[in-house]
Amino acid sequence: MIDIHNHSLFGLDDGPKDIDTSLKMLEIAKNDGISEIVLTPHIAEEFRYDINNAKEKFFILQEKIKEAGIDLKLHLGFEVRIDKELLKKYEEKIEMLTVDGKSKYVLLEFPFLDIPLYYKEIIKYFTSADITPIIVHPFRNRKIFSNINFLDEIFSLGVLFQFNTDDILNKNILPVFIKVLKKNLVHFVASDAHSLDLRPPILSPSFKIVEKKFKENVAKALFFENPQKIVNGEFFENRVLINSNFFGRIKNMFKKEEED
Ligand SMILES: [Fe+2]
Repeated sequence: MIDIHNHSLFGLDDGPKDIDTSLKMLEIAKNDGISEIVLTPHIAEEFRYDINNAKEKFFILQEKIKEAGIDLKLHLGFEVRIDKELLKKYEEKIEMLTVDGKSKYVLLEFPFLDIPLYYKEIIKYFTSADITPIIVHPFRNRKIFSNINFLDEIFSLGVLFQFNTDDILNKNILPVFIKVLKKNLVHFVASDAHSLDLRPPILSPSFKIVEKKFKENVAKALFFENPQKIVNGEFFENRVLINSNFFGRIKNMFKKEEED
């Protein structure tokens, strides 16, 4: 599996404080069957560090896991909070915020309480530079969670959606997650790991739930194939994973025959 949202990089945000904890977290991830991780420290008002410092720490950790014999491929990205100062701060250097600096994908986080009007401007800024925003854990935003129709509006701006393992493991959230999955608006599941115990870098329990409730191909798309496109910096095509209604299934059958 490939985890595209993970805070195991030490000493920057509310993830681990020291490199030993980072190493332990990455070992847990490896043992869970994760082969690649995008390390995504927060870019938000409450965390102040220099991006170059994050890069240095990333390279140090990369060396350390080699020494420790932990066979994992690491990438560096950021979880960027949608904030009205964002464009002012990074206007000339938005590529720094993208996954591996490849200027293909950026992880964006909505504020928790509100959907600010300027969010569209921020998304358009990235899409007009051919950078696709991945909106992380949209259910953390209270307004979106209470009205999932907001997701259609946000999706129409050209973004993708990443959900957390907690959205699947929490029995109160799972039914809403399933509704969104049936709308084909779930593109990735990631750990959003912050620690060894409270939010560990583990994906397999949620993978098994998706596999059991839907088909193996759905779980594979969300945990393997779709995240692979992100780390490879490849074009993402939003496939229909689930036909939620009879007419949809019929339409798709004809489409498939035409293609054949
Ligand atoms: Fe996060």
